[in-house]
Amino acid sequence: MDNKIIDESIQGQVLKFETKNTAGKKLFLESYGCQMNFSDSEIVASILTEKGFSMTQNFEEADLIFINTCAIRENAELRVRNRLNDFKRVKKKNPKLLVGVLGCMAERLKSQFLEQEKLVDIVVGPDSYRDLPNLIEEAEDGHKAINVILSKEETYADLTPLRLGSNGVSAFISIMRGCDNMCSFCVVPFTRGRERSRDPDSIIAEAKDVFDNGYKEVTLLGQNVDSYLWSGGGLKKENLSSEQQAAATNFAQLLEKVALISPQLRVRFSTSHPKDMTDDVLHMVAKHTNICNYIHLPVQSGSSRILEMMNRGYTREWYLDRMAAIKRIIPNCGISTDIITGFCSETEEDHQQTISLMKEIKYDYAYMFSYSERPKTLAERKYKDDVAEAVKKRRLAEIIELQRLNSGIKTLLGIGQVHEVLVEGFSKKSNEMLMGRNSQNTVVVFPKQNYKKGDYVNILATRCTTSTLIGEPV
Ligand code: 5AD
Ligand code: SF4
Repeated sequence: MDNKIIDESIQGQVLKFETKNTAGKKLFLESYGCQMNFSDSEIVASILTEKGFSMTQNFEEADLIFINTCAIRENAELRVRNRLNDFKRVKKKNPKLLVGVLGCMAERLKSQFLEQEKLVDIVVGPDSYRDLPNLIEEAEDGHKAINVILSKEETYADLTPLRLGSNGVSAFISIMRGCDNMCSFCVVPFTRGRERSRDPDSIIAEAKDVFDNGYKEVTLLGQNVDSYLWSGGGLKKENLSSEQQAAATNFAQLLEKVALISPQLRVRFSTSHPKDMTDDVLHMVAKHTNICNYIHLPVQSGSSRILEMMNRGYTREWYLDRMAAIKRIIPNCGISTDIITGFCSETEEDHQQTISLMKEIKYDYAYMFSYSERPKTLAERKYKDDVAEAVKKRRLAEIIELQRLNSGIKTLLGIGQVHEVLVEGFSKKSNEMLMGRNSQNTVVVFPKQNYKKGDYVNILATRCTTSTLIGEPV
């Protein structure tokens, strides 16, 4: 499994939106973790607003508080526990308030959650959101309500997500769920279940719908998008006959179908997996100018010995070959990655291998973490978490510093070039400036003039900060 974690600074954000229905009970919904989780919250909001709930951004006035949780690292769980303490205070004042825990932490802890946190009334795993209205009713009748059944089929394909916290330009579309990879460090196969792909017709319909509603960019989401495969019967590749395989839709084909909706619709995707990413996908990115030249390809470690223990299914050499293929087929491709420091038995030599790989590739961006042992994972059962916390943290600081330099150099190289920017809104610092991204996902800021959100504007970059290009329309 891999999944791009949304920047820590916006984790736990309250999703902003407005609904017309103010007559019903009020729901406060807060999300933590990856984009998939944020996307799931849009499904939850859709299900509950259909049932007459209205949304609030103020938990003090809510009748129902839902927290959509992440279990990927221990500190993600700690953050949720802390947040529950804030809710305790409100529940004291309003005993009728219902508190529900959704998502990966709910799935991991199941009924334990109800025992450990008396405050919690409802516990729901990622595949059971359709059952929410029933579970809420049960809880309203004074019973603790739980559904953590994982499904082999559920993709919520027929539901239209309520676009929460969206800038109206960029939408996330989930194309598959679950993960079958069993990376030894990762809890996701246990919390999100088996991998299953969503019907491409429903994906295209959703992408068309957001485009018709003014959106200009879709990001296709999955734990491992390269293993997307739709054969109609939900069968895995190895169980398909050769005719069925030929008739099935793979990820490259899905990408093309989405790209063909309109040249004005940008297409992004996340997350790619080094063991499954084919040249076909890369050629498809190169073929359509509206498929962005940006790939998130988590490496996790630069040491083949550690990669083997992580059960990643590739070596350092294989990864470098995939990187060479990206550079060959999509020149000028933005590349980002995920890296873990201090995995079980990682030596200084292994760590240096990660550093040398980063120096060789020069990622545009990296999400970096120190290893956090997760209960029930392969690594927890098989290996000792034997790298001292201080060493994990020191190695993490080293790679963060190296990446800061690399990001700076990458941004600098964009100066003097013209970038096609899709405008997302005002820049953080000034309402006289607009911000958007180029195809490679670098943020570009420029004077507003008469441009607006959703426009494509060509910008000549003239200066930069570490991670942002600044320029003028040309
Ligand atoms: N400890 C630290 N980082 C982890 N990740 C996944 N599991 C763990 C863990 N147990 C990181 C990986 C993954 C990203 C989403 O989170 O780098 O790609
Ligand atoms: Fe997303 Fe769950 Fe992974 Fe957290 S543990 S990043 S919520 S899939």
